[in-house]
Amino acid sequence: MKILITGSAGFIGYNFCKFLLTKSGHQIYSIDNVDSYYSQKLKRARLRDLKRHKKFRFYKFDLCNKKKLEKIFKTKFGAVYHFAAQAGVRYSLINPRSYINSNIIGFFNLIELIKKNKVRKFYYASSSSVYGESKNFPLKEIHKINPKNIYGLTKKNNEETAELFFEGSSTNAVGLRFFTVFGEWGRPDMLIYKYLKSVFDKKSKFYLNNYGNHTRDFTYICDVTEILYKLLNIKFKKNNTVINICSNNPIKITKILNYINSYFKKRPIINKRSFQKADVKKTHGSNLKIKKISNKKRFTDLKLALNNTCFWFKNNSKLFI
Ligand SMILES: NC(=O)c1ccc[n+]([C@@H]2O[C@H](COP(=O)([O-])OP(=O)(O)OC[C@H]3O[C@@H](n4cnc5c(N)ncnc54)[C@H](O)[C@@H]3O)[C@@H](O)[C@H]2O)c1
Repeated sequence: MKILITGSAGFIGYNFCKFLLTKSGHQIYSIDNVDSYYSQKLKRARLRDLKRHKKFRFYKFDLCNKKKLEKIFKTKFGAVYHFAAQAGVRYSLINPRSYINSNIIGFFNLIELIKKNKVRKFYYASSSSVYGESKNFPLKEIHKINPKNIYGLTKKNNEETAELFFEGSSTNAVGLRFFTVFGEWGRPDMLIYKYLKSVFDKKSKFYLNNYGNHTRDFTYICDVTEILYKLLNIKFKKNNTVINICSNNPIKITKILNYINSYFKKRPIINKRSFQKADVKKTHGSNLKIKKISNKKRFTDLKLALNNTCFWFKNNSKLFI
């Protein structure tokens, strides 16, 4: 099958392309604008790795460029996975327009062509951020959503647009509410990698928000790629479905940092600071729905996943420093 993947230079997009290229015979077409939100050196390294595979094609452009996007759709795709977006919660306080451009306009350009070309399977990245601050844990897909930052709002908009737009069409859209994904080739703007960087680079200051009292449902990238692949063979009855992609294992941030300290036998300087406006205090999702749909029984042990992440970082720290 020919599959289109957006955001292939990014963390989840890269890992999923790699999974498909090594474990399936599918032909991958991919798009990324390689933006400078974080290290382009890291994004280029991911792309170099993917380009070694014969069945990988890469197109560098922005999803806001409708003409270029139309050209790609001359190819008939069996499925589209959409990961390209302006990610990050705190950055949405500094540069909200970037979220409107990539996550609203870019998203709409893509779904128009998906519908027009009758692509049957469409999987798009939403986020746990759609839930906002909640006290009702674990968060279930049926719960009310109420984002507290522009990033989450654009993801809510994606879900609502997809629901109305694909109703009665030949496309099944599946919104994936990712919860704090981490692992090999991870994102430098996220907590684990910021901390790893400060372990290796004394000049890199690490700030611990809310004095380390946040709790997150950390989800390992290998579980995510396995789920994404399983979804390809699942028939959805409704035109639009949303699913939590999470491990259902909330962990306090300080516990994660302690684990990294014990792996490297080092303790970098931690600059503690108060609660940041765009953040939520806790995420904890229910993964009953995804477990049932995908028949995935077990998620990777957190310590093993952290071990793999630390090991990978040790061998690739040059990409971050
Ligand atoms: N990583 C997580 O924990 C997490 C959690 C919740 C949701 N998500 C969502 O999952 C998706 C993938 O996340 P990620 O962690 O891989 O992020 P990422 O930033 O590593 O990847 C996104 C990629 O999209 C590209 N991109 C951005 N805007 C674009 C545009 N307009 N046109 C073309 N390319 C563009 C970027 O260059 C980047 O390579 C995103 O939609 C993100 O919002 C991720």
